[in-house]
Amino acid sequence: MSRPCNVVVLISGSGSNLQALIDSLADGTSPAAIRAVISNRAEAYGLQRARNAGIATEVLDHKGFADRERFDAELIRRIDAFAPDLVILAGFMRILSPGFVRHYHGRLLNIHPSLLPKYKGLHTHQRALEGGDAEHGCSVHFVTEELDGGPLVVQAAIPVESEDTPETLAARVHAQEHLIYPLAMRWFAEGRLRLGEHGAMLDGQALPATGYPFRTKEIRDA
Ligand code: GAR
Repeated sequence: MSRPCNVVVLISGSGSNLQALIDSLADGTSPAAIRAVISNRAEAYGLQRARNAGIATEVLDHKGFADRERFDAELIRRIDAFAPDLVILAGFMRILSPGFVRHYHGRLLNIHPSLLPKYKGLHTHQRALEGGDAEHGCSVHFVTEELDGGPLVVQAAIPVESEDTPETLAARVHAQEHLIYPLAMRWFAEGRLRLGEHGAMLDGQALPATGYPFRTKEIRDA
């Protein structure tokens, strides 16, 4: 078997996406191996999820650092101790410095709860409702220096219902996140997904600017 793809996951909170990534490896068919989970918050429940799965955990509290650059430099040191091929941001609620992003160029993925380029930043579900959008969703993208602006890999869209609240919408978007993030991790680990000069590439083909348009039924074929 070929060498596993070492993955380090960064979290700040509940870690339901982390759980989906962990669960996706259970059948042993993916070359991805999550080597460590690092949180900037000691109380993040995702740390418990990682421990339950026998994955190494670390806490690096940003409050102990004088500035973002110093925190990010230490974060790089901690991450690189696990020799990652891929670093996954799974609800890691920190803006990363340009130096950090450059260091992991082409091997840093993020998930964002909107159909990017719509609704970069926070409160995406509320904003989609206020915007009267018919569709909302989530996006996996390569991270570049532009916040929530890197090349898209895969998106999942769901219809917005008239009775939706930010909470009900968030719950349905979350369920889609749990499908597309494992898919993107697998693609990367299998060597199918790369960041090319002009954007994300899947199987040697440029992905559309909107990313791969995922529909739930396509999971088996992807
Ligand atoms: C997810 O909805 C993810 O898309 C979002 O944080 C949540 C983490 O949930 N990320 C961002 O908003 C990044 N800008 P989780 O801890 O249950 O995976």
